Order: sequence, then C-alpha cells, then structure tokens
Amino acid sequence: MVSWKGIIERYRDFLPVSDKTPVVTLHEGNTPLIPSRDLSEEIGLEVYLKYEGLNPTGSFKDRGMTMAISKAKEKGCTVVMCASTGNTSASAAAYAARGGSMKCVVLIPEGNIALGKLAQAMIHQAKVIAVQGNFDEALTLVKEITRDYPVELVNSLNPYRIEGQKTSAFEICDVLEDAPEFHAIPVGNAGNITAYWKGYKEYKQRQRSQSLPRMLGFQAAGAAPIVLGKIVERPETIATAIRIGNPASWKAAEAARDESSGRIDAVTDEEILQAYQRLAAASGVFVEPASAASVAGILKLHQDGYFKKFKGARLVCTLTGHGLKDPDIAIKNVKAPVSLKPDIKEILKEIGL
Ligand code: F0G
Repeated sequence: MVSWKGIIERYRDFLPVSDKTPVVTLHEGNTPLIPSRDLSEEIGLEVYLKYEGLNPTGSFKDRGMTMAISKAKEKGCTVVMCASTGNTSASAAAYAARGGSMKCVVLIPEGNIALGKLAQAMIHQAKVIAVQGNFDEALTLVKEITRDYPVELVNSLNPYRIEGQKTSAFEICDVLEDAPEFHAIPVGNAGNITAYWKGYKEYKQRQRSQSLPRMLGFQAAGAAPIVLGKIVERPETIATAIRIGNPASWKAAEAARDESSGRIDAVTDEEILQAYQRLAAASGVFVEPASAASVAGILKLHQDGYFKKFKGARLVCTLTGHGLKDPDIAIKNVKAPVSLKPDIKEILKEIGL
C-alpha cells in the first residue's frame, strides 16, 4: 500500500511546484466523500458530503496552505501573514510551524472568532493580533503591510492558495469517476468556490473527467454582498467564518457561478443552524456553522423546486470545517446534560429502563 503524502505529492502534475520546492505538508487532503442517505431521500438526488473538517487543522484551508507555505519557503520568506475569521490563521500557524524558521502573524476580528481556532493559532506560536474591527478591515491592513514589507501574504489572494484548494475537486472526480452535476459550497471571501471551479475545469481539460458541475454558492443572509450586488459594511452572522462583507475573490466567484450556470444565494442564520443540527443528528457529521450553509442552501433550493428536473443527479456539498472548532455554538444549541447522583435507580429512571 502506498501511503498518502498530501496533496502536492498526489497532484504534482497539476500544481506549480518543481523538484526544488521544499514541500511543507501535514499530509492534508484525501478527505472522505460520504453519501448522505438522509439528504438524498429528501431531495431526490444522490447527495455526498465532502468532509473537509478532517484535514489536519480541521478545515479545507490546509490544502491551500501546504502550497502557500511551501512556495514561501522556496522563495526564502521568513515571515508570513494573513487576516482571518479563524481557520486560515489556524492553518497558517500550523504550516509555518511545520516549515521551520518561519514566523506567522495573524490579524483576527476581535470577539468574532471561534474558540478552537484561536486556540490553534496560539498553540502553534503565531503572533496573534485582535483587530478592533471586522475581517474586511483586517484584510485591508494585511494587504498594505505585505505590499510594503518583506512579508508573504497567505490569504487566498495568494494564487498558490487557490492552486492547492482546487485539489478537492480532483479528489471528488477521482472517487465519482466524473464531476457531479452540482457542487454546493459556502462562500465567504470566495476563494474556495473559485478554487473548486478552477479544479473542475482543469480536470476536464486534461481529460480526467468528462463534465462540469453547476456551482451553487451560499452566503449568510447578514453577510451576502455577492447576492446583494454591493459591499456589506457591517456583516453579521453566527457563522463567523463567513462573516465577510467585501470578498477578495468576488469577481472570480461570479465567474464560477455564471460559467457553470449555477447560483449564489443567501441562507439565514436560522436555516444554517437547522442544517448544522440536522447534519450532526441525522448524518453523524459534526461541522462548524459556516459549513452547514451549503446544506441549508440545497434544502432551500429543493423547497423552491430547483432540483425537480434533475432526479437522481449527483450533488456534492463541501463541509468546510470541523464542528469542534466552535464548541460554544454546539453547546448553546443543545439541552444541557441532566445531573444525577451516582445512583443506579435514578439513572435507569432517567434512561427510561
Ligand atoms: N467555511 C469555513 C469553515 C471557512 O473558514 C471559510 C473561510 C469559508 C467557509 C469560506 O471560504 O472564504 O474561501 O469563501 N474562512 C476564511 C478564514 C475567511 O479566514 O478562515 P472562502
């Protein structure tokens, strides 16, 4: 058996790397594509969940970060920087640590990052700065600093990030032996929808697949600039990962939507939370709220009759991050455990035995 050595080794022919590139990897990628019986039955399609929360730092960002950090190291960069709603910072911090002799600086929106992500950036020894503002303001600062100083930007504006992230589309085509008819994905800064679309197109061009999916992107209703067609100055949503009002890859996301005859729609926080709980309870898959936006979105399109003509078609939902990233949200949305004395009678009574 050949062991998995990460996305760069697996898809080297599709990536801008050479023998000289020092590969910084945590063996990311190769995430499961899980069929969801529950969603398939309801929607009448074959629904699969691409569980990106099972990457080394718990989100899809690792695919892009192995590329961005390897290329930064190849160039001899010693400082990398990003703005982040949490997952990018966790991934950048881990890969910079893995790369050795690399400093990582992250700007996060104060008070709006999930606990697990903050813990990750800190334990990997990144310099964490909480900015008294939102993600968009933090990104503007990072762009300015990385333009003027010898510091490498590792947000998805860095083209190597997109290159790495496109490999998830390759994995899906490898498993399904073609592209699915639909691909649903949450949209925040819009790098990932851009990356998947690039991946699907390249695989088809190189004759590894025969078709292209329709791309279905979903933003949170309180942070839906692409849906509204204008910048949202004060984005708000419980899905803090996608609390973004001015996405960096806005144009590329629109291109993915239009070229694929897809859609970019909004889902409310309530719909996101329902999908979040449903995934955990009915599919056994624990994701963070932003990830559930893709499932909330397809349920909404189904209710609108969007899939009527496509019975039995294949649909893949990207679940971008692990549920353990945001334990506070999970605990707030379930009943607290019952507290009982260590007495067998009381416990049996509570169980109903
Ligand atoms: N889902 C999760 C869990 C994310 O962390 C992000 C983005 C997205 C979806 C949206 O992906 O930005 O490529 O459209 N998180 C970034 C971060 C912004 O800083 O971690 P996108």
